[in-house]
Amino acid sequence: MSITFLNRSIWQRIFGISATDRPRDDKGWHYESGKLMIKLDLVPELTEPGTAVRFEGKNLPKRVLVVFGEDEQYRAFHNRCTHFGHRRLDYVPGTETVQCCSLNKSTYTFAGKKIHGPNPKPVDTFKVEKNGEQLIVQLT
Ligand code: FES
Repeated sequence: MSITFLNRSIWQRIFGISATDRPRDDKGWHYESGKLMIKLDLVPELTEPGTAVRFEGKNLPKRVLVVFGEDEQYRAFHNRCTHFGHRRLDYVPGTETVQCCSLNKSTYTFAGKKIHGPNPKPVDTFKVEKNGEQLIVQLT
């Protein structure tokens, strides 16, 4: 698999500034009983194929990157590169990969497998279910 690198500035990479935004409306998600629950009607950023949103804060125990791929499948990742800087990941449009926002650009497949960079391990992926207008990401 060839690797596509996101076009980011050197400063964005040095400071680890993610290309992926948080949801505009924080009321569109919550965490309970090991599940990240996302209301798609309040998080429309995740309804166009080829998009991604990062979830963090509130009582969420782990940062989560949710990708709605061009194949119209939802996928979720622990949003923490396994390299020692543990920076955030971004979806790379046009590919089936996610990539660390840092200088080393560690890259993982949608299955979490490392395919580029110094990252020592795969990244954790989480099961996602769609139930009507709700996404349920199982974190445990
Ligand atoms: S923190 Fe991801 S490559 Fe270093």
